[in-house]
Amino acid sequence: MARALTFVCQSCGAAHSKWSGKCDACGGWNTIVEEASTVPAGAGARRAKGRAFALEDLKTADELPLRRETGLAEFDRVCGGGLVPGSALLIGGDPGVGKSTLILQVLAAQALQGGHAVYISGEEAMAQVRMRAVRMGLSQSPVALGSATCVEDILSTVEHGPTPSVIAIDSIQTIWTSALEAAPGTIAQVRTASFDLVRYAKASGAALLLIGHVTKEGQIAGPKAVEHLVDAVLYFEGERGHHFRILRAVKNRFGPTDEIGVFEMTGRGLMEVSNPSALFLGDRSGRAPGMAVFAGLEGTRPLLVEVQALVAPTGYGTPRRAVVGWDSGRLSMLLAVLEARAGLAIGGQDVYLNIAGGLKVSEPAADLATAAALISASSGKPLPADWVFFGEMSLSGGVRAAPQAELRLREAAKLGFRTAVVPEGTKGESAGMELKPVRDVAGLVLLTGGVAGDGSGRGRI
Ligand code: TYD
Ligand code: MG
Repeated sequence: MARALTFVCQSCGAAHSKWSGKCDACGGWNTIVEEASTVPAGAGARRAKGRAFALEDLKTADELPLRRETGLAEFDRVCGGGLVPGSALLIGGDPGVGKSTLILQVLAAQALQGGHAVYISGEEAMAQVRMRAVRMGLSQSPVALGSATCVEDILSTVEHGPTPSVIAIDSIQTIWTSALEAAPGTIAQVRTASFDLVRYAKASGAALLLIGHVTKEGQIAGPKAVEHLVDAVLYFEGERGHHFRILRAVKNRFGPTDEIGVFEMTGRGLMEVSNPSALFLGDRSGRAPGMAVFAGLEGTRPLLVEVQALVAPTGYGTPRRAVVGWDSGRLSMLLAVLEARAGLAIGGQDVYLNIAGGLKVSEPAADLATAAALISASSGKPLPADWVFFGEMSLSGGVRAAPQAELRLREAAKLGFRTAVVPEGTKGESAGMELKPVRDVAGLVLLTGGVAGDGSGRGRI
């Protein structure tokens, strides 16, 4: 047996020849750990002899079964249309967000379509997995269950049965290989075990789903160690206290990375939400000041969300800023622009900003809706209920164009909105919305500050 000593950073996976307090690769302090890896003599003997193929001799894309739909439409949308045989996917998320639930549903959907789906749990006993399946009404689905943590056991088990069309490992942090002495959960173990599993997937044509917990720093443990091994990285996100969950692709070799899938966590598992705008719009029946609807975009999917602002006299010396679902730096910027370019002095007051439904909005095009909500909150006049906003605000106070205007407008029209406040030059009359172009923040104040809240839904300027 050959014994090799390496020092591996537990945060980024970089290998060093000696120990040091700081990792040169990622800058992390105290993250380097000595890992003794014992490579059994003759390891690699099983390896197939390398062979090169001419690209033109390989099957063309039409002949290969390119994608297999799982049957869970929102999941397929994020993957780019389904699972690619032989590909590896990493699904990350906070503990308790619903990763195991999601994967069980994906496997059950796949099994019901005739695929051979295998679920290996390293965290829960089989009885626990079954209890969950019963609760979700999936106990009759022909999913093969296994409870194992050693990668050699897992591989020999699946290699003896029929080749799975999809195999899920829950979670990579619990899987270890006997080829290494390092403790399970260390970078070396996670990397080696994942590598073996990915190699099995590529050789067999099974789609591999690896589940990974996100560490408190917001990264999948050993992110660099695993992310480059897999073809796609998906994040499953959700706010505490809210029932909806969002599946987002951050890396995808086979499809776009800006797609989202929306689910709602119910007592019987995750339900797909095909019209997320309705979910994020909140209760639109009552009209209060400080509410503006942003016609947003997540990937190729338009999404309407309600931005809520509250401006209140400050009780202490320093005004409070509380932001949920938006960037607090961007709020400070907008407040400064409103004050400097439109003379709206909200800066000295407490400002609260919330995106309804617990969604996180990162599009710059949300500026206009947020500014409108702030103006309305400070003037005390509600905005008309059938208005939507989109456009980016620059430091000069100018309103800049946002991409895919037509798509946003059509979604708004579909949900009953009639008027859109948009950057100057926006095209999209065919969507059937009345467009109110604004050139700068002063124009926005004029437009929204002067609107009478008469409840008719039609604005008067
Ligand atoms: P789980 O899939 O175990 O999360 P993870 O694998 O990401 O750690 O989901 C755990 C949470 O989901 C748990 O707090 C309960 C909730 N849940 C429901 O609300 N309804 C259900 O049908 C299921 C199965 C779970
Ligand atoms: Mg789990």
